[in-house]
Amino acid sequence: MKYIICKDYKELSCRAADEIAGVLAAKPNAVLGLATGSTPEGLYAELCRRYAAGEIDFSQATGFNLDEYYPIRPEHPQSYHFYMDRHLFLHVNFDRARVHIPDGSTDDPEEECAAYDAAIEAAGGIDLQILGIGQNGHIGFNEPAPALIAGTHPTALTESTLGANARFFAPGESMPHSALTMGMAPILRARKILLLVSGAAKRSVMRRLREGTITTDLPASLLLTHPDTLVLCDREAYPGD
Ligand code: GLP
Repeated sequence: MKYIICKDYKELSCRAADEIAGVLAAKPNAVLGLATGSTPEGLYAELCRRYAAGEIDFSQATGFNLDEYYPIRPEHPQSYHFYMDRHLFLHVNFDRARVHIPDGSTDDPEEECAAYDAAIEAAGGIDLQILGIGQNGHIGFNEPAPALIAGTHPTALTESTLGANARFFAPGESMPHSALTMGMAPILRARKILLLVSGAAKRSVMRRLREGTITTDLPASLLLTHPDTLVLCDREAYPGD
């Protein structure tokens, strides 16, 4: 696991965009694993800026999002479908037939998850996986637990995640208590992983990650087993040595 400490969120977002641009320059039909949350918003804004400037082309790329709330309609403003449209897909030239997000409105979540893994495999796996990290160490919605599930699966959200994400839902609006998430296996099979970490609220989870212990109680620690993970961390999030 390599670290680049960025002076601020803007630099982190630009460096992350550089990584995606580099992958697409080398392989225009690359498969990108995409994340949601507040952390990648700056990255997506920078990608939109570069696309408008004619500097980047997504026309042959494929996207697989990490996760989606369950149950949720795709048109719900807090769905990750809505998020991806608003922050990226409506502004760049991704081919809609090649972008994938787990369907949070399915009647058969197990079947949806199995089909999602099959689609990732059929696409040849993920070339570059973008990740954020939860304050409890989750990646995607792989929450801390005595055991983690390899494949894409339905999962209950923990109190920590419900608390952290409640801010996005209107007061009084009930938030889904479950999600569909890519499992640890497709994430760890990505050829390269880019973990984005920003803000003082992530400093304590970063301190735990830097201890170097691998435990399912800190799902992000499994990234320590991956041969090509780059952490882009801003100074606020970096706990020091
Ligand atoms: C969310 C998502 C994760 C994301 C994380 C951190 O709930 N499921 O994929 O990385 O939590 O979010 P944020 O960037 O807003 O801190």
